[in-house]
Amino acid sequence: MMNWFLHGHFTSLLLSAPEDGHLHQAPVIRYWGARLPDGGAPTSAWSDERACPPSSLDIGLAPTVFPSGGFGDASQPGLRAHRQGQQFGFAADRYTVTPDAVANAVRIQLQDSANQIEVHLHLRLDANDTLHITTRLNNLGNAPLQVDALTSANLYLPGQLDTVHSFHGQWANEFQWQSQALARTQWRQENRTGRTSHQMFPGAVITNATTDWHSGPCYGAHLAWSGNFLQTVDTLDDGRRQWQLGVAFAPGELELPPGASFEAPAVLASFSPSGRNGLMQNFHAAMRATVQWPGGRATPRPVHLNTWEAVYFDHVLDDLKDFASQAASIGVERFILDDGWFHGRNDDHTSLGDWWPDADKYPDGLAPLASHVTALGMQFGLWVEPEMVNPDSDLYRAHPEWVFAAPGKLQQTWRHQLVLNTALPAVQDYLFDRLDVLLSSLPISYLKWDMNRDVMQAVGIDGRAGYLGFVQGLYALLARVRIAHPNVEIESCASGGGRMDAGVLAHTHRFWTSDNTDALSRVGIQRGALQFFPPEILGAHIGPVPYHTTGRTQSLDFRAGVALPLHLGIELDVRAIGDGERAQLAPWLALYKSLRSLLHQGAMWLGECGDHIVWQAHGSAQVLVVFVTRTAPTEARQSPPLVLPMLDATTDYRVTRLDPPSIDASNAGVDAPMHQTLRQGSAIAVHGAWLSEAGLPLPRMSGEAVHIYRFEKS
Ligand code: GLA
Repeated sequence: MMNWFLHGHFTSLLLSAPEDGHLHQAPVIRYWGARLPDGGAPTSAWSDERACPPSSLDIGLAPTVFPSGGFGDASQPGLRAHRQGQQFGFAADRYTVTPDAVANAVRIQLQDSANQIEVHLHLRLDANDTLHITTRLNNLGNAPLQVDALTSANLYLPGQLDTVHSFHGQWANEFQWQSQALARTQWRQENRTGRTSHQMFPGAVITNATTDWHSGPCYGAHLAWSGNFLQTVDTLDDGRRQWQLGVAFAPGELELPPGASFEAPAVLASFSPSGRNGLMQNFHAAMRATVQWPGGRATPRPVHLNTWEAVYFDHVLDDLKDFASQAASIGVERFILDDGWFHGRNDDHTSLGDWWPDADKYPDGLAPLASHVTALGMQFGLWVEPEMVNPDSDLYRAHPEWVFAAPGKLQQTWRHQLVLNTALPAVQDYLFDRLDVLLSSLPISYLKWDMNRDVMQAVGIDGRAGYLGFVQGLYALLARVRIAHPNVEIESCASGGGRMDAGVLAHTHRFWTSDNTDALSRVGIQRGALQFFPPEILGAHIGPVPYHTTGRTQSLDFRAGVALPLHLGIELDVRAIGDGERAQLAPWLALYKSLRSLLHQGAMWLGECGDHIVWQAHGSAQVLVVFVTRTAPTEARQSPPLVLPMLDATTDYRVTRLDPPSIDASNAGVDAPMHQTLRQGSAIAVHGAWLSEAGLPLPRMSGEAVHIYRFEKS
């Protein structure tokens, strides 16, 4: 028996293959779970453990690390390919496994000699227990290979893992948590929107009944891809779960000429024995390693002011200058000019594609505004939506052939816009040149890169489906912009959170989590997104009330408290709010600045107290900042306690309350003595064992309120 281990802190992965090598029996993923001791490999061969019951194959084949279809193993295959209907499928008859101890990785080369196909897998387990799996397909034959399906990863989980948690949603309601029991029928999620989408996230979490926030087995996977995808979970004949993720190709979309290769997008997969928080921490570390920050590391995340909901398309230079001055005076650090600045853009019917300043609104270009903003000490950011074009635009009139359109089909607009085929070199060049002119001639340090429709009728250069080429073209364009302007940060936005994934994150630095700034909606949206992404890359803005998306109204303190732990911004006109609210904003921004290094670098935990109170903690067992959020009025006279299992149970903690005095002021009169002390800014001492088992008693809280506590080891 040959075994190859990858060990992490809390995880081990074991690949095994029989010494003599059964035909069609490449290595199997024999184990993926809690850390095994060194030398903990089984002595029996995988094949020795499998029965051959009546009515089955005469040898006990198991699905391999890249399962074959139709060659004895009836699980879902890793590849569905053929040459004009011939030589279908893939079953390796030769393989090599090359361990790389330095990288904690293995490289596996699988070859199907008869069908002349090669698959290269690379599995690396990073220092924080996330597996990075990449797959390359090579056509070794003399004829083109038609690829119908190719998985990026094939994962195997113990059968006791019986619940899949996925994320559904729509515009302004992203990352809605959905839990479903796994059964013997396939669980399947297929995205055909052409972008990552609001409706589904390209990843999931799998748990069992013992898993909660803090303990129990928890598996997660995430496809690093911003287009169509397919993920499935099947139950195998040995009870295990087979989890596959990959690009979903349209019919005929991928054909590899002789000698050509296709690099599938990576999958990031992780296991934690410490529940959903353990998995979240693993993914946060992996995402932090994905972001390519200008200068190599993140600067403290600046407070944003985004103009969209304040002025929409109504850009008046002097007003915007005044707006910027007032924003700077309350502590804003980056001023982003949203949609409405470019040639002829007065509403959403026209002008996408014409990426030069509107001469009526900005007779001297954007320089007067940009330099006003930078003179105030703020960074200047600009909104663009490069892959899109309105039929009513100079660009479309000049190049109608650049848009995706299926011959003979009615072209569907969406927000009055069409999609450019970013795979076309001419489109790439045009978009790069327009962006390059803006970035080279103006002090722009930030782009909000938007994308406001699904990709449809994606007919590519060669007449084949172009969904794949669209995403590859987008990535190439982003990479080119980054190389030419390495100090510019980019935000990935797609009508809010419609393009949030590890693929686009390799080229960008922030996600606009949702167009919905309603803080109550945001509690759920943000907690869903946090399962995969760290707080410093998730944009959270204090919006105007009544909210433009939900019509509801909440207090400024609640809005600020919910937004504060992520990458904070403001989405309202600071000139239009009253003096009272403006005076309330400044201490929130100051608090954000004092906490951001701790909020954005440490570990995170989520939890629930019951009675409509949820919490999130940032930091470490040494210093922890905890946001306690009530989302509905209490059902009881006393609040439940805040139990923090991650605290050190051997020592005292100094507890303080950090939120500004305005928050929940109406409850001051009923506070228990302990909470009066905290409210007045004094500290109390509580033992870590008490906090982690019994918990900190919480005060009464208004129906929608956030309290912020700091716990520091004494
Ligand atoms: C999208 C974005 C918004 C805003 C508008 C501008 O909806 O999500 O934040 O930028 O486009 O048109």
